[in-house]
Amino acid sequence: MPQKKHTQYCLKMKNILVIGSTGQIGSELTMKLRKEVPGSTVVAGYIKGAEPKGILFESGPSEIADVRDGAALHEIVRKYNIDTIYNLAALLSAVAESRPLMAWDIQMNGLINILEVARENGVAVFTPSSIGSFGPETPAVNTPQDTVQRPRTMYGVTKVSTELLSNYYYYKYGVDTRSVRFPGLISYVTLPGGGTTDYAVEIYYSAVKGEEFVCPVKAGTFMDMMYMPDALRAAVEIMQADPDKLVHRNAFNIASMSFDPEIIAAAIRKEIPDFKMRYEVDPLRQHIADSWPDSMDDSCARQEWGWKPEYDLASMTKDMIDHLRKKL
Ligand code: SER
Repeated sequence: MPQKKHTQYCLKMKNILVIGSTGQIGSELTMKLRKEVPGSTVVAGYIKGAEPKGILFESGPSEIADVRDGAALHEIVRKYNIDTIYNLAALLSAVAESRPLMAWDIQMNGLINILEVARENGVAVFTPSSIGSFGPETPAVNTPQDTVQRPRTMYGVTKVSTELLSNYYYYKYGVDTRSVRFPGLISYVTLPGGGTTDYAVEIYYSAVKGEEFVCPVKAGTFMDMMYMPDALRAAVEIMQADPDKLVHRNAFNIASMSFDPEIIAAAIRKEIPDFKMRYEVDPLRQHIADSWPDSMDDSCARQEWGWKPEYDLASMTKDMIDHLRKKL
């Protein structure tokens, strides 16, 4: 079948639904969109048990938005005249290994519900992919944009399938699907849960509390990481990019830093000289980390929509520690 490029739906970014608004990315992205997209209505979608609280609840509308309930999604889209969905519902890599069927249900059945609602209502969709979409056969250093994607985790399988299904809806129906492959994301706001890159967040909490950090992956385990402000900017900029310039869509490699536990520990010691770390390797997380890239090549994102990170390890470390000192 010829692959035709559609531009059927122009991007409006006015009425936005963030699914997973109380999660690691959603809690910050919802607030950023509310502050920065002029005249927007940003609906905080959540599931029971993860209700928005405080400023997230008070600053705009919220609705129960379980990706497994397509009819409910449809209603929200109609009620608010939604033009853009950020679909951030997912089980992270390590937890998905213990609950693979649930991960499939949320990540895949959930995605097709969203894409169907998007097709019927002309909605643009962002569903993040990840470094987890790669596997042990992928070139690990400078991982190219277009390369082997044979992950061995359920998380990775759902992320590759997400890329494929999003691309399918774009070419077949003209649904404006766009995405990035996120590295491990580091933030002082909302903790991740059950991921392989979580150690790079937890290490800062231990350092600021003056505790010894017990690292679950070995020295020499390199992975791509990114500070949350850069990741949020990427999620907004990709959705605002000129569609005619995008050769790739689902999904772009984006990168800003790659390190192993020794390197991040050394960066922390520049701010907190007596910080201590020891290793207690978690075989599952080590196995997953070993199958992921060391560092991605993000030149396509840079060329096609001007992606450029602002934070490196040193500036992120300083900012993380400053904020955690206030928070803890
Ligand atoms: N941060 C995710 C994880 O570790 C990868 O995208 O599971």
